[in-house]
Amino acid sequence: MQPLTLATMIAHEDSFLEQILKFDDQGQASSQSSSEGIPYVTNAFWTARQRQAHSLHEISYRACFKPQLPEFFIARLTQPGDTVYDPFMGRGTTPLQAALMGRCAVGNDINPLSILFTRPRLRPPTLEAVAQRLQQVDWQCGEIENEELLVFYSPQTLRHIYALRQWLLARAPIDRVVDPVDDWIRMVAINRLTGHSSGFFSVYTLPPNQAVSIASQRKINAKRNQTPVDRDIQKIILKKTRSLLRDAAIVNAAVGQPYSCLTTGPAERNAQLRAASVQLVITSPPFLDIVQYADDNWLRNWFSGIDTQSLAIAHHRHASDWQHMVAATLQELTRVVAVGGHIAFEVGEVRHGQVMLEQQVWAAAEGLPLERIAVMINQQTFSKTANCWGVDNNTQGTNSNRIVILRRIAD
Ligand SMILES: C[S@@+](CC[C@H](N)C(=O)[O-])C[C@H]1O[C@@H](n2cnc3c(N)ncnc32)[C@H](O)[C@@H]1O
Repeated sequence: MQPLTLATMIAHEDSFLEQILKFDDQGQASSQSSSEGIPYVTNAFWTARQRQAHSLHEISYRACFKPQLPEFFIARLTQPGDTVYDPFMGRGTTPLQAALMGRCAVGNDINPLSILFTRPRLRPPTLEAVAQRLQQVDWQCGEIENEELLVFYSPQTLRHIYALRQWLLARAPIDRVVDPVDDWIRMVAINRLTGHSSGFFSVYTLPPNQAVSIASQRKINAKRNQTPVDRDIQKIILKKTRSLLRDAAIVNAAVGQPYSCLTTGPAERNAQLRAASVQLVITSPPFLDIVQYADDNWLRNWFSGIDTQSLAIAHHRHASDWQHMVAATLQELTRVVAVGGHIAFEVGEVRHGQVMLEQQVWAAAEGLPLERIAVMINQQTFSKTANCWGVDNNTQGTNSNRIVILRRIAD
């Protein structure tokens, strides 16, 4: 097969490729290169500083991407009313950004926790409604079932957490469409369970997207000579709610109007999505075995009543196994994406650049009805805020966004 070069790609008159080649919004021209026959286009296409993301995005999740990433593609590759899909949605950055831009928001993840993060922010309540609802909780009825959790919480705080958990499990089972205010309260609570400041229910621990084990927390407590103090759960939930809703003027105008659909299941097969119903996919799967999604979310899953062990979260030690998962996912995406629609498939740079995951994705797309347009590399500068939302994976060996751009062509 002839190697694919940038010149042959341009000859196809791909308008998106032309756009990224001409991109110089930051006063810097895109640079072009080629490796293993794959065309690369590099620039600072988006940065957290260049454009403030909507406050509703400020929910932490391991290896989430910046909202500016889906915004870049949604703005250029879709029209209002089009459908945007993420089969590995995590905290729901893609569907939320899609909804904020008046697109139909479709998202999926193997962990039902993702729906609990995403759905409430597609239909946010008012601060007053949240305050009133919190008063209905019977805060005195909580009973401590697992005393080991006292490594994170004072006895009173833990009783209140149990009371809220019990109230939510009874009123808002996770497998049903539930009241938006209850849904919101659970979303904020699972994001305040543990963290590194007094804005969280716990004593000092790791940032909120990474709950440590009971044994590790014991060590942290001993090292810091700390004991959990009482926290006012209602106050913390209201404070975070106020912060998330501070850009609400835009929310009311944009979120919740177009259709949205969130599902739980493997990315490799989403029976609830019709063929050719999607115009754009923006997604990022787990990168090999770099992030421990099950372990990091154990406390959030416990609070939500999710059995972490039962989840088939993708976790691949070998690049070849990972490539099989990607190939199966791309096969499914060719079913759901309409001809002319695009896929932006993001991967990180892992194992200090020894494994180039974008090359695996490029190879996995071969033979499918997908035009392989280019790999975009976004030059990143990390902000402190971005770090604490879990965007920066530097310590885990990831330091650049690499996005494989594909276009669905006729079979
Ligand atoms: C890199 S994270 C996605 C983060 C997302 N882009 C965000 O901004 O929050 C990968 C996600 O894939 C999910 N996942 C793992 N295996 C999966 C599978 N087989 N099908 C669907 N989702 C899966 C994990 O639960 C995790 O939420």
